[in-house]
Amino acid sequence: MVETKATPLETFRSAAQAIVDQIHHETESEAHRIFRNHPGHGRDRDKKEEEHLPGIKHPGSTGVIYVTDRASANGFYYGNPEWGNLGQGAPEVGDIPGAVPKPDSIDLKRFGDAVHEYAPGTGTTELRKAVANYYNETYRKNQPQKYGPENVCIVPGGRAGMTRVAAVIGSVNCGYQLPEYTSYESMLSAFKNLVPIPTVLSAADRYKLSVDDLKKEIKGRGLSAVILSNPRNPTGMIIEGDELKELVMTSKQMGATFILDEFYSWYLHEGELGRAVSSAEYIEDVNETPVVIIDGLTKNWRCPGWRVCWVVGPKDMITALNQSGSFLDGGASHPMQCAALEMLDLERCKQDRIALQKRFRAKRKHVLERLEKMGLPVVVEPQATFYIWLSLESLPAPLNSGLVMFEELLREKTIVVPGQSFDINPAHRRNIIDSPCEKFIRISYGPEIEQVDRGLDALERVLAKARSPDSGHEFNKGYKRTREEEDVLDPSSPQRPSKK
Ligand SMILES: Cc1ncc(COP(=O)(O)O)c(C=O)c1O
Repeated sequence: MVETKATPLETFRSAAQAIVDQIHHETESEAHRIFRNHPGHGRDRDKKEEEHLPGIKHPGSTGVIYVTDRASANGFYYGNPEWGNLGQGAPEVGDIPGAVPKPDSIDLKRFGDAVHEYAPGTGTTELRKAVANYYNETYRKNQPQKYGPENVCIVPGGRAGMTRVAAVIGSVNCGYQLPEYTSYESMLSAFKNLVPIPTVLSAADRYKLSVDDLKKEIKGRGLSAVILSNPRNPTGMIIEGDELKELVMTSKQMGATFILDEFYSWYLHEGELGRAVSSAEYIEDVNETPVVIIDGLTKNWRCPGWRVCWVVGPKDMITALNQSGSFLDGGASHPMQCAALEMLDLERCKQDRIALQKRFRAKRKHVLERLEKMGLPVVVEPQATFYIWLSLESLPAPLNSGLVMFEELLREKTIVVPGQSFDINPAHRRNIIDSPCEKFIRISYGPEIEQVDRGLDALERVLAKARSPDSGHEFNKGYKRTREEEDVLDPSSPQRPSKK
């Protein structure tokens, strides 16, 4: 008789099944109770309890805040060499082979005393010209119309750019898709006259936005604006070529403003080295096509701390953004705008793109191979970005929950982001378990490979605990908490007596 060897996943499942139970409701799970008790995560009817200061309301914590708070409760601090931070959506910032070394000083004298003044609300003219030139030379060689400085607004970071844009969208329905970079949800909700309308993308469609479906949404739901990241965080999917061209044309044909977040436009894992993707390639009339592009030094240039980003679009949009910026953020740092000029040198950009793609394609391959070996193959492999949207569905409960896996990895000094963070305000659900993002985590391979490996080793250790039921390890029990979390702890928790 031929003996068939069990796959790592089968062995794992049969061993672990005996010791764990399926979670049916959030109240049965410690990881979920901790999530629910976090400031801003209470359901609407619980909200009153959170209003400790007159008139002050938590807007709901973004994924990053929740993840960092929970990691700190487990002993994490930035720079702790024992930890693997695969949660933060930032790329490694040090010099990488083949890339132009990062500047290590700024000679402010070169820019005269004016560098200490406020910069204009839309940014310095020099930087606006450099950004327009970058788009014209990289993407618009075949387009007769070019961008000028009047089409560029410099902003202090991507989120600031997005907030400036959200502040000038009128009382309209604004569409976005899920899973998506969740700052959008909080940001759009902060502007009360704008109605955010989410739609859910499915794994069966490889989380790809179909332009035909989008057209139906625009018509059926009366969308006047649509916001999307392309390439998409967290799934790593991208719309390019003819599809992207059609998307751009749809904006004009259907009279809807598209806000395209192109922060990962260099992180491409397919095709020729050194290429980049932007909707700018397909925009014919720069002042009439209602497409607004947001990008900046945060991801592609690997300088998230510089806080120099830009919005590119019709000149009417730029004058509106000047107005919203004047009360929202006051503009990007003047010295950093001066320093950014050399980062937009076209030769430098090309060289850095090649170096970045070599580095990140290798990291992606490495991570996918390790996950496959662990018995956790990635169903929808990322085409772009540095994220893996990892389904835990094949694992036995409770490890198939993103929130439980997140807590178990924190015990092993590793940070990932639970899928919940990419849902439409999951805290509003009656039962968080029902979220379509419940069985996912997002793994970032942005950090250097040693750190990525530290995180993957931790994932292996968590799986190993589940494979050995005699290890005595109890999943989803006894997680560390901060003082604040203990103060609001669900009294039903067996962990400690209630303080309430
Ligand atoms: C899709 C997307 N857009 C924008 C940003 C934020 O950019 P910034 O840090 O410059 O505000 C991020 C950061 O994670 C992102 O993933």
